Amino acid sequence: MALVEWKTVYETNVSEVDNQHKKLVGIVNELHSAMIMGKGKDVLSKVFNELVEYTLIHFATEEKYFDEYVYPEADLHKQQHKNLVEQVAALKTKFEAGEKVLTLDVMNFLRDWLHDHIIGSDKLFGPYLNSKGVK
Ligand SMILES: [Fe+2]
Ligand SMILES: [Fe+2]
Repeated sequence: MALVEWKTVYETNVSEVDNQHKKLVGIVNELHSAMIMGKGKDVLSKVFNELVEYTLIHFATEEKYFDEYVYPEADLHKQQHKNLVEQVAALKTKFEAGEKVLTLDVMNFLRDWLHDHIIGSDKLFGPYLNSKGVK
């Protein structure tokens, strides 16, 4: 069973963002299944890289909308992105150094991180951007 199931409650109603969130859920699930299947460091490293890189692309996409449509909560939201990137990058650094970081705890952290950030922050810009004509 997948670690994260996509739920309609995750929808922000901004299609580019929703598609990227689905892809992020997919990568987290891929990392989780590679971990539980005991895949080697090469595979884990590849998927972990993909997660870090896609997270950066995704946050840049949201921030592009914030700047373009002068989203009032942009500063706080960008700070949250920055903190998340730092947390994931720190995990990645430990992983590359050979530490056993891909544990169930870390996977649960990633799952909660996606869930909490989408529900607690991303959902808030949906109505704002929709009111500016973004779908
Ligand atoms: Fe997001
Ligand atoms: Fe966000």
